[in-house]
Amino acid sequence: MELQFLGHACFLLDDGRYKVLTDPFLSGTGQTELANTIRPDFIFVTHGHGDHVGDAVEIAKRTGAAVCCTVDLAEAVFAPAGVRTLAGNLGGTMTMPFGSAKIFQAIHGSGVAGCLSSGFIFEMGGRRIYHAGDTALMADMALLADEALDAALLPIGDFFTMGPADALRAVKMIRPKLTIPMHFSTFPPIAQNPEAFAASCEAAGFRARVLQPGASMTL
Ligand code: NI
Ligand code: MN
Repeated sequence: MELQFLGHACFLLDDGRYKVLTDPFLSGTGQTELANTIRPDFIFVTHGHGDHVGDAVEIAKRTGAAVCCTVDLAEAVFAPAGVRTLAGNLGGTMTMPFGSAKIFQAIHGSGVAGCLSSGFIFEMGGRRIYHAGDTALMADMALLADEALDAALLPIGDFFTMGPADALRAVKMIRPKLTIPMHFSTFPPIAQNPEAFAASCEAAGFRARVLQPGASMTL
């Protein structure tokens, strides 16, 4: 099971058979070539803000990948754009060819009136990975301790989402085997030191790893 960080909240999960892309904000971070060539099977979008929808429509049209998100976001943004969607709703687990994806709540604006923001819990390649999307710290994260997560991808940027101190409180509730910070330093207001965050996790007894944009790891 390979996990690659492509910057901001964009990750590519690859079990050797299927490729899952999350929140593909690629041309917006200067990765236009990658946006034009990447070939995911599924594109998961946590909410309707531009730094998460990113190149989803263009990639879906070019590759035929299905865009997976909440029903409301699918109906508001992706179905009208003419792309294939696979839509569930909060609390629901979508059975997928690679395993499953459970839609977990997030506390954040959605960017589209009437829609809710979300995160996802992927079961793929024998691993369980939580992508938090954009979210504030919330007590609901304590529920994730029962999900036996191998990895938690958490925003630490502050300003628009939880910052490093609240993300550490989240780690203590979620208790994942590994934490990977995301959603930092893309824009000036969310400049953060991810190594300092990782060190704070390690000091609390939790493994954390900083991936630079483009870096991969085996889970
Ligand atoms: Ni957002
Ligand atoms: Mn965002």
